[in-house]
Amino acid sequence: MKQPKRVGIFGGSFNPIHNAHINLASAFAKKLKLDKVLVIPTANSPHKDPDTLIDPMHRLNMCRLACDDVKKAEVCDIEITRQGTSYTVDTLSKIKEMYPDSELFLLMGADMFMTFDTWREPDKIISMASICTVPRNDDDEKILREKGKEYTAKGANTFILDLKKMDISSTMIRKLAYNDEIFSKYVDPKVEKYIYANYLYMNKGTINYARFDKVLKARMGEKRYIHSVNVAIEAQRLAKKYGADTDKAKLAGTLHDITKETFSNEQLAIINNSGIELNFIESSSPKLWHAIAGAGFVRDVMGIDDQDVFNAIRYHTSGREKMSLLEKCVFIADFTGAERDYDGVDEMRTLADKSLEEAMAFGLSFSISDLAKRRLAIDPNSLACYNEVVLLLGKGGNKK
Ligand SMILES: [Fe+2]
Ligand SMILES: [Fe+2]
Repeated sequence: MKQPKRVGIFGGSFNPIHNAHINLASAFAKKLKLDKVLVIPTANSPHKDPDTLIDPMHRLNMCRLACDDVKKAEVCDIEITRQGTSYTVDTLSKIKEMYPDSELFLLMGADMFMTFDTWREPDKIISMASICTVPRNDDDEKILREKGKEYTAKGANTFILDLKKMDISSTMIRKLAYNDEIFSKYVDPKVEKYIYANYLYMNKGTINYARFDKVLKARMGEKRYIHSVNVAIEAQRLAKKYGADTDKAKLAGTLHDITKETFSNEQLAIINNSGIELNFIESSSPKLWHAIAGAGFVRDVMGIDDQDVFNAIRYHTSGREKMSLLEKCVFIADFTGAERDYDGVDEMRTLADKSLEEAMAFGLSFSISDLAKRRLAIDPNSLACYNEVVLLLGKGGNKK
């Protein structure tokens, strides 16, 4: 493979990557006639507060999305896969190994440039790459040029690049996301979607349906989004009728299928990260995972810590013994939401208005017999739930 002659190195925390980064990478490539710009997110920068840095894999994924169709930009994961603190000298040595015949150009922010001589092994760095920066303003440029002269005297090749900088910062985007303000004009649409889908930088634990809408739309198709809205409306209606908490019904209904369109390996990762234990049937039935992962996601990623809401989502497919009123409302609403049109939906709707247990029994016999017909395993939670409601009904139990 032909080696690129001139390679730019653009490192940063990219927390998140935004349009100014992309513009800078392109302008840097153009100004120095680079064949390639390596965009390198840091694992853990010695210059940044580790508390505000989100998971490096998220930052890497966002860089990949943003650079997807940017000419000459290539995302490089060497710092993230190496883990630990990222020192530029180590990264550069690695890049030198990858591109032994290329001329390297290291881009850094103005403040980084000013303190460059305090970095680890600056002499080694200048022996491997030219060091480049962009002034923030006119005053800055003078100071940077003075500093550049000092570095040149020590043998460095320096470039103070006159590139137009956009007034955008990652801090600003994080703040906008946290305050539920629009940040779409500052980032690539794919990055925006990723931020919502993964609930990054959001004010966790707070309830905001405009935000949840964006999260749902980023995680699922139109059909499932409409289903979620309908389940929320129906769960709320049932909650009002039977005396459950209507706010929690709306919340659990809205979010019940939040991981339904997530790959099963990711569902399992969410379940593991949440420390949720699966029974034997659950472990071997990926179809049940979306409900369990959904509960974990809502509690641990979105920060909504309410046990009843957790259970309503966790058991919305299987049911379980001793379900709360809220759990039953969400379980039934999943069958009777406005867009449902399967054979028997009218009877299910009539029963839902008559008695929660009648509707539960009808819904459970529907899904249990469907599983049995297809010779699929039946979750013991579903059986326990079914037994409980039919026994209760046989005894003439709650028929409110
Ligand atoms: Fe579901
Ligand atoms: Fe559903």
